[in-house]
Amino acid sequence: MSVIVFGSINMDLVARTPRLPVAGETLVGYSFETIPGGKGANQAVAVARLGIPTQMVGRVGGDEFGRTLLQGLQDNQVDCAAVPIDNSTHSGVAVITVDASSENHIVVIPGANGRVGEADIERLRQMLASQTSSATTSPIVLLQLEVPLEAVVAAAEAAKQVGATVILDPAPARCDLPESLLAAVDIITPNQVEASQLAGFEVHDRDSAKQAASLLHQRGVGAVIIKLGKDGALCLTADSSFDIPVFPVQAVDTVAAGDAFNGGLAAGLAAGQTLSAATTQAAAVAALSVTKAGAQPSLPTRAELDAFLASR
Ligand code: RIB
Repeated sequence: MSVIVFGSINMDLVARTPRLPVAGETLVGYSFETIPGGKGANQAVAVARLGIPTQMVGRVGGDEFGRTLLQGLQDNQVDCAAVPIDNSTHSGVAVITVDASSENHIVVIPGANGRVGEADIERLRQMLASQTSSATTSPIVLLQLEVPLEAVVAAAEAAKQVGATVILDPAPARCDLPESLLAAVDIITPNQVEASQLAGFEVHDRDSAKQAASLLHQRGVGAVIIKLGKDGALCLTADSSFDIPVFPVQAVDTVAAGDAFNGGLAAGLAAGQTLSAATTQAAAVAALSVTKAGAQPSLPTRAELDAFLASR
């Protein structure tokens, strides 16, 4: 089974600092790097590095960042035939500050990601049509919220229509997801902040996470996985509810941990794993990703994941 990622592609402008600055403060940092990122692109690279055929639908700008981002995706075996260069704007960028305790602040400027629309949805439809006519199993489609919401809704509906499995990472957090989107989603994977926004109450522990999961399930989502950071994750479906294990590691940088989780989940399901096994794999991929700095450079290969799982 293959995976299609419909979403954002950013260049991350990463400053490392002793601590996060307060409003109005000028702080001297340790280092600066440009690193390929973007929630969509990170998820695509996470899946591809685990050996699953992966296609990306999105946009980069007509600038040096755009060319570097495209090349990076291709170097990771992500099929970018549906990633045009949009010369009318710049590539998406994320300005990221990471402090010594691996906490971060992220500001995203959408650029080309903000232009994702009807033409891209049409490319997705064609991709889905060719895959569902030739393969015995439907693809998995990964969505996030860093491209316009109308495009995400249309992509989810197009995928649902052909029987694809739709996984939504509702990040960045927002509280206004339409019911039509939730109804088209098979699996949603909010973290605590995102779950709080979606549920309308604070998700701060396992009990409140269970209440939020049950609410989202009632609103039409097939399976709800709430990521609780270092406390693991929990999963609720129509007929089961289970905890997802924690893999304790020394965190260096948590940027893209959520993307690593979703990539690991999709790769597991694409390889035929049960939801429970795929969520365990997702937790391991996320744990490995926080042990390295940067978004895409932190995502493990199949060999790294297998070695990590064998060592636990
Ligand atoms: O999820 C991490 C990503 O969020 C970063 O790579 C950054 O680009 C922002 O989109």
